Amino acid sequence: SKKLTISTIKKSKGVRPLVMITAYDALFAKLLEPSADMILVGDSLNMSFAGRSDTISTTLEQMLYHTNAVCMGAKNSFVICDMPFGTYTCKERALDNAIKVFQNTQADCVKIEGGADKAEIIKHLTDNGIAVCGHIGLLPQSVRSEGGYKVKGKTANEREQLLRDAKAVECAGAFCMVIEGTKADVAKEIAQSVSIPVIGIGAGAEVDGQVLVFSDMLGLFEEFTPKFVKKYLDGATLVKNALKEYADEVVSRKFPKEEHTY
Ligand code: KIV
Ligand code: NA
Repeated sequence: SKKLTISTIKKSKGVRPLVMITAYDALFAKLLEPSADMILVGDSLNMSFAGRSDTISTTLEQMLYHTNAVCMGAKNSFVICDMPFGTYTCKERALDNAIKVFQNTQADCVKIEGGADKAEIIKHLTDNGIAVCGHIGLLPQSVRSEGGYKVKGKTANEREQLLRDAKAVECAGAFCMVIEGTKADVAKEIAQSVSIPVIGIGAGAEVDGQVLVFSDMLGLFEEFTPKFVKKYLDGATLVKNALKEYADEVVSRKFPKEEHTY
């Protein structure tokens, strides 16, 4: 399949929903590439890959390493690199760090968490040739200051703030945005109120596409399963059963057989 561009992604709005999935390494990126429009190297790799309990401690170095791996595995995919916590605290810092992403990887854009409060930063990046995917609603990088993961859009104030955020992200020049952990009716209204694609995760069906963390949807991540995750594979059970069979065959000397032997 042909690699999407910023312009084909924008034009897909209203035509067909976009398919986004995370990947953190070349092996999985290559497996996921045929069915994905966009591959997100999410800072969620700090949990799924590095075993930490949240995304706060993800570093830019980690993002560069994993983004390089994903780009090597999925050469025909549009790749998004998450800007980790603390790397875009002001527009100058954000541009310096986004330039590092562009100079050291083949990523097509960066993703930044935040709405109206990040508009100036998003504009500074897009003005300087760095495409930006926004991320509004529930913001995992704010989990510590918010005291947990809280669904957004439950009150009239939150709904209005989210609408302002979406507009601000669009006006700042983002070509698309993720909306996470938001009431479906509010996410729908947001998707209808902007002209760029709004990709949902835990934001209902009435948006312009969906994104899931690959290790969640393949059933490989067992620590917890958010309500919005559908497991398309019972990966953990399949892997454990395969390993058990291997271990049993090693112990019983059933493996290796003649055909595996020089
Ligand atoms: O890091 C990540 O995987 C993300 C998605 C949940 C959107 O930002
Ligand atoms: Na993220």
